[in-house]
Amino acid sequence: MATRILRDLTGADEAAAAIRVRGLTRVFGDHVVLDGLDLTVAPGEFVALLGRSGSGKSTLLRILGGFDDEVSGEVLAARRRAVVFQEPRLLPWTRALGNVVLGLPGADVDRRGRAALAEVGLAGRERSWPVTLSGGEAQRVALARALVREPDLVMLDEPFGALDALTRIRMHALLQELCRRHRPAVLFVTHDVDEAILLADRVLVLTDGRLSLDVPVGLPTPRPRAHPAFAALRARLLTELGVRDLAEAAT
Ligand SMILES: Nc1ncnc2c1ncn2[C@@H]1O[C@H](COP(=O)(O)OP(=O)(O)OP(=O)(O)O)[C@@H](O)[C@H]1O
Ligand SMILES: [Mg+2]
Repeated sequence: MATRILRDLTGADEAAAAIRVRGLTRVFGDHVVLDGLDLTVAPGEFVALLGRSGSGKSTLLRILGGFDDEVSGEVLAARRRAVVFQEPRLLPWTRALGNVVLGLPGADVDRRGRAALAEVGLAGRERSWPVTLSGGEAQRVALARALVREPDLVMLDEPFGALDALTRIRMHALLQELCRRHRPAVLFVTHDVDEAILLADRVLVLTDGRLSLDVPVGLPTPRPRAHPAFAALRARLLTELGVRDLAEAAT
């Protein structure tokens, strides 16, 4: 049933939105995973996407990344876009710098690659082989690989899910700093409700193939978890995810 594939936003549309999805449907066999989904993300907006396991978050990112076109509906995204996955997906046979600049056109590719590595705190590690990098370092190389393309839209699929709690906190600060500097639109998939509230301007919940909740975070930054509005939004999101009772029982 492939009727329409991902297209680039152009002209005035590109100035108005980084993502525009209308009536997106994705079916695997008789399993309807995305069911007429609508989504608009503004330029520079940081949007977190929550949803139960198997709700279709990665499916949506794969479509927006251009890796899956067996869909129906309208799917438009900023021309310059990059995806960061849960695992860094570095090529083992090329060094950190080679991974960052892989496939990049232009004359001063190495200089740009070095600058991107420096931005993620990996200056001096250009010649490191992927196997010698820690999980956090490898994920920072993956972030540099996304950044060096100067994207208007960055999509991240549980990018910090495999990292320990301390590295995760550092990665949050790094991502926030990079977003302040480059102002891309961000679509950030996570399982972690607190991570979503800490980072995002707006939080979405994907349920039964559509966005069942779309709420602005509206909290000042930095966002203390003890803030009553933080707790209220956490409770609302956990309820929407159908796990509030479980979460309360565990604390
Ligand atoms: N290539 C495929 N063939 C058949 N079914 C698929 C395929 N890809 C995904 N699915 C199904 O689509 C549904 C959504 O999968 P998806 O990976 O998007 O979920 P998710 O929300 O990212 O889950 P998680 O939080 O566990 O990562 C699942 O039921 C999955 O089994
Ligand atoms: Mg997933």
